[in-house]
Amino acid sequence: MPNSAKNKSATPSIFTKTYAWLWNSLANQLLFTYLILVTLALLVISFWALVSIKAESINDLRNSLEVEAVNLALEIDNDLALDSLKSKMRIKAACDRHASKLGVSITVVDKDGHVLADSAENLKTSGGENLSNQSEINEALAGIMSISQRNSPNSKNNWLYVAYPVRAAGQTTGVIRVGVQLTQIEQRLNKDLIVFLEITLATFIITIFISLWLAKRVSKPIQDMSNLAKKIAISGDIAHTVPVNRHDEIGELGQSFNQMIRRLQVQEKLRQEFIANASHELKTPTMAIGSVVEALLAGAKDDKNLKDEFINSLDKLVIRQTKLIQDLLDISQLDAETGIVWTDKVNISDLLHESIDHIKAQAEKKEIALNFIANPSINRTLTVSGNYNHLLRAINNILANAVNYTGNGGKIDIEYQIDGEEESNELVIKIADTGVGIDAKDLPHIFDRFYRTDKARARASGGTGLGLAITYDIIKKHNGNITVESQIGSGTTFYLTLPLIN
Ligand SMILES: Nc1ncnc2c1ncn2[C@@H]1O[C@H](COP(=O)(O)OP(=O)(O)OP(=O)(O)O)[C@@H](O)[C@H]1O
Ligand SMILES: [Mg+2]
Repeated sequence: MPNSAKNKSATPSIFTKTYAWLWNSLANQLLFTYLILVTLALLVISFWALVSIKAESINDLRNSLEVEAVNLALEIDNDLALDSLKSKMRIKAACDRHASKLGVSITVVDKDGHVLADSAENLKTSGGENLSNQSEINEALAGIMSISQRNSPNSKNNWLYVAYPVRAAGQTTGVIRVGVQLTQIEQRLNKDLIVFLEITLATFIITIFISLWLAKRVSKPIQDMSNLAKKIAISGDIAHTVPVNRHDEIGELGQSFNQMIRRLQVQEKLRQEFIANASHELKTPTMAIGSVVEALLAGAKDDKNLKDEFINSLDKLVIRQTKLIQDLLDISQLDAETGIVWTDKVNISDLLHESIDHIKAQAEKKEIALNFIANPSINRTLTVSGNYNHLLRAINNILANAVNYTGNGGKIDIEYQIDGEEESNELVIKIADTGVGIDAKDLPHIFDRFYRTDKARARASGGTGLGLAITYDIIKKHNGNITVESQIGSGTTFYLTLPLIN
């Protein structure tokens, strides 16, 4: 593409810019919506008001013209019946008086439609122009009061006429027509229109300010959240929250946003603690290995007894280090959930037997009795869907703890039952020991990573405090649950709940 063409297409048009300015800002959208709504509402109200005022004014005027015509009729009805110059003069005088009183034009015609008197003309001594062809006069001559609105023949002005029939002995003896130019009303309406436009403009300006304030009030907290979210996305800094000082939906959004940040803060704290603990736990045996190797190199290797002792402790340290690294790998694998198959059909009886076989030797060493108590009421194969190796790992951890934290000659009972009714799908595995027990203050923490109630004793037994954390993760990943009851000095019981499949 040539350069100039490229530049041309890259420059957005004014329309595109305005569109973007309007729709890329919530505040602008609110502002314009309010403005359009308020302007439309004002215009509709003004139009309706003007139409009503006009109709009302014409109605008022018509009524007053009617009253004037009736009054004049009462005054001249006798003279209408007479056909004398004197009577004509009286009619003319009355006509002029009433016309000037109201500022209107009055025309009096005889029963045939000839003008007898007209407030705008001189006295007619003989019969004047015949107006019977004009609609209102024609209808009034027929005895019906008539109203018409039209342009007068002599001018382009709009006139309102009320023609009133004067009647005597059941006959129409003449018609009084009162007319007024509507220019006054139109002028008044024009003035009203200007006032309405002024009010619309003032309201428009006030609306701009109110809308700006409202739009800012709505968009400011959202803008704050957006800015903070951007900051977190770019720098990962989750030290700040947004101020929340309102109780509406936006306030709720702000609170949820802050809750999310606080959760991230907690997770970040846990992550940092985990890294610090893991580094510390890795460092301790590594340094110990270094010291033993140093001692061997410094000469201990030449003493047979010392050499054997040091190599034994090296072996223990390496085993501990390997176990710790394996635990850390397991934790990260469980966290990431990658490479784990969750669809094994795990036979619970096989699982428990394998785990018991695994721990048997250690238990025998401490003369601890391992009692697997089969439940005679359950005669079906109990199967759980999940990962066999991980479930084995979980049971192994609990049994290993039971052996580790139970003194010589103690006892460990392993039993299971189906919770609730026969058809219930929940398996409960109970592992109870007669060991040292766990203090009530430690119980809520024993599933935390690296938590040990007695660090010295746990370390002596090679524990790092990850076993129960891993067990908890595994059971949760199988949609199960793990709880514990314990009494210092008398022992500990773990309950594992797992959903069974048929
Ligand atoms: N059966 C038990 N009797 C008494 N205390 C127990 C028992 N099981 C666990 N604990 C306590 O809970 C703590 C956490 O147990 P966990 O299995 O997580 O760690 P650990 O046994 O110390 O180390 P490892 O990571 O090797 O398992 C133990 O250090 C111990 O203090
Ligand atoms: Mg353990």
